[in-house]
Amino acid sequence: ALAVQRSLNSQLKFPCLDRCGKTSQCSRLVSYLEGQGQSAELWRFPDRSTSVGQMISSYLSNTSQLDDHTIHLLFSANRWEKRSLMETKLKTGTSLIVDRYSYSGVAFSSAKGLDFEWCKAPETGLLDPDLVVFLDISPEKAAERGGYGGERYEQIEFQRKVAKNYEVLRDASWKVVDACQPIEDVEKQLQEIVLDCVMSCQKGKPFSHLWS
Ligand code: TYD
Repeated sequence: ALAVQRSLNSQLKFPCLDRCGKTSQCSRLVSYLEGQGQSAELWRFPDRSTSVGQMISSYLSNTSQLDDHTIHLLFSANRWEKRSLMETKLKTGTSLIVDRYSYSGVAFSSAKGLDFEWCKAPETGLLDPDLVVFLDISPEKAAERGGYGGERYEQIEFQRKVAKNYEVLRDASWKVVDACQPIEDVEKQLQEIVLDCVMSCQKGKPFSHLWS
């Protein structure tokens, strides 16, 4: 039964530097999948709609200050509070396109100097994505793109550290797409990669968990 339930879903994760275009690409992907007759939803982390999410949001806008470990655990809690809904959606045949996930959690927090393994620990047991897509852009190029906004992490030095951490996290299973190509080219490549993943999940695939 699980294989059947898993027959029409997949979850795809997008960790990335800020300003790489992932948010608009993620929403285009959902429209594309729907156009292909697939049930799909766009999710994003942080999910600022929950009470934990509101704490994160005011931290990111510098309205509140929090200890680095504390905010890391809040980002993680924000994923945990959505975990069971995530599983339900996937089991009922909806593919989830997720704009940031645990990889962003580890890459950003460890860029502040927190221990890498410590950062990974609270993510253990969350659902493992069927596909991770990395939209590759240098921190310099990202900064040129209409610039970083006013949020806490949007500074080039910090983004350089985040980029290094993604290198450490990245494994051979990640799909890397050059985010400096024209938007339409990025979009086309993503469509191919993602449809391929959704189709392969239709063959039935058990859930696995981070960090496997
Ligand atoms: P996001 O809302 O995706 O902003 P943007 O669209 O500008 O990329 O993420 C907000 C910030 O939070 C971003 O700088 C990345 C950071 N972040 C973490 O530090 N930890 C996390 O677990 C997540 C999901 C994001």
